[in-house]
Amino acid sequence: MLSKKIEKGLNEQIGLEAYSSSYYMAIATWCAANGYNGIAKYLYHHSDEEREHMLKIYSYMNEAGAQAITPKIDKPPAEQKSVRAGIQAALKHEMKVTASINSLADVSMKEKDYTTFNFLQWFIKEQLEEENQFRSILSKIDLVGTDSKGLYMIDKEMGKKVDNS
Ligand code: FEO
Repeated sequence: MLSKKIEKGLNEQIGLEAYSSSYYMAIATWCAANGYNGIAKYLYHHSDEEREHMLKIYSYMNEAGAQAITPKIDKPPAEQKSVRAGIQAALKHEMKVTASINSLADVSMKEKDYTTFNFLQWFIKEQLEEENQFRSILSKIDLVGTDSKGLYMIDKEMGKKVDNS
């Protein structure tokens, strides 16, 4: 049985994961429209993963006898200043998601809800990986700067990451 506070926190997390999925789709379509098809492919794939994260919470809540609330999703921005700005925005967003997961873990520990605390461990590990992935793409983009050949190579590499995953 989940406390009202935990239930509310998990439902808010569902909203955040749903927005993440939508946000990465928005960055992906901008990338595709601006010639970065590999990065677009990577972000579309990432968007699918975010939906899976959301469904993981649905499933946990249902298993715990609670009802997940299907969220209303805000419209993400359609425009990016550059491919770098898009990736940087994604990293910033992931940091926000990490803070939210950590705060939820904190609440579950304080409430002695060890089952939820244990459930959140998967997300804590996943957040570390996701932040690292976006940081690494950003570093690569920074290395090549505005060199179009360099950006082309990064784009190609990002597309291949999805094929090999
Ligand atoms: Fe599910 Fe990238 O946070």
